[in-house]
Amino acid sequence: MQKLTEKLQAEADARGLLRVTLSGHFGKTVKKISYTPATHKKEPSILEERFMPDGKALHAFLPVKGCAERILKESESFRQTDVSAVGFSAVVLRSAKGALHIKYGEGSEEKRKPDGKNYILSPGVKYDFLTLLGIQDASGRVHDKRQGKFRQINRFLQIVSDVLPSLPENEVKIWDLCCGKSYLSFAVYYYFRYVLGKDVSVHCVDLKADVIAECASYAEKLGWDGLHFICGDIFKAVPDERPDLVLSLHACDTATDMVLAGAVQRGARVILSSPCCQHELASQINCPELSYVTREPILKQKLAAVLTDALRCRLLYACGYKVTTLEFTDPEDTPKNLMIRAEKALIPAKLREAALAEYDNVCAGLGAKPAMRSLLSDFLTKTR
Ligand SMILES: C[S@@+](CC[C@H](N)C(=O)[O-])C[C@H]1O[C@@H](n2cnc3c(N)ncnc32)[C@H](O)[C@@H]1O
Repeated sequence: MQKLTEKLQAEADARGLLRVTLSGHFGKTVKKISYTPATHKKEPSILEERFMPDGKALHAFLPVKGCAERILKESESFRQTDVSAVGFSAVVLRSAKGALHIKYGEGSEEKRKPDGKNYILSPGVKYDFLTLLGIQDASGRVHDKRQGKFRQINRFLQIVSDVLPSLPENEVKIWDLCCGKSYLSFAVYYYFRYVLGKDVSVHCVDLKADVIAECASYAEKLGWDGLHFICGDIFKAVPDERPDLVLSLHACDTATDMVLAGAVQRGARVILSSPCCQHELASQINCPELSYVTREPILKQKLAAVLTDALRCRLLYACGYKVTTLEFTDPEDTPKNLMIRAEKALIPAKLREAALAEYDNVCAGLGAKPAMRSLLSDFLTKTR
């Protein structure tokens, strides 16, 4: 065990520890414990998640210094310990009488596999919020029909983890606009509060009173007092604050433009928006040069959707945001899988103006006047 303690500590010090899982508790009073790096806390820390037989999960943070000894001491009460690190992996089997069998294997150089399977939320672990939202059953199994949603939530959390450098260290203010059932808000709250250990407030807004009331009741059941649900029109209902992160998943048609424009006006540091049903341009395009495309209704709809999102990105750039588009989730899960990621950046005025000129020129050529342009007209004039 001494060798394993040293190897594990060396990996943790180098931030190479991926996961340690303890399972098969001899006393059956704990279901399992997992240890993963909480990489975004100020001091290097390890998140300990202790899963209890009643489905609850208790969270604690351990300092990296001395963590191997502490984890392996805890492992004495468990039949099996699985270690996964960058440099090596190991399985420790322990009999009730204390006999040990340790088998070493290869490490994993990849911290995040490209297929996105290195999830922030582990499949098979019960998360109370996912059970309340109908994604997992009472034992923590993801319902067959909700596998796509589970993948989507995990992928979204990975995208959020990528923008952490653009967010404040603590007291992160998040808005989820057109939140509907608020899957993302619950997941994001869990991630910031319990995985990263940060203070976070999440305000979720939607017009549907019944959905908002249901989500508020879940937040109350979970005791998540930083998660707020507001029934109302997005920008009339948000708090009077500068948001750090504005989220929006599948806000229909020009509701996405309202979200993007409002987020820009309120100075959001990061915007993550996955648009849907981009109908606006389809009804506006009047461009003889493109008639060979627009005479086919399906092609016209697809062209309008791509142009809508490309123009949104260009306008965000003109407003001072560095923009990337990503495949949000597997196209087999949903065809609406484009994600616009915009991070506030210091973009020289010349480049912003050139982007705006290009935008206006393309719109003129298409014969289109997108809603987002008029919503941001005052902002663009003031910030020139
Ligand atoms: C397609 S649903 C998406 C819900 C959720 N984000 C999701 O992906 O599961 C769009 C939501 O936008 C809401 N919505 C549309 N316009 C809105 C507005 N102006 N203010 C607030 N909510 C709005 C609708 O009530 C609906 O719940």
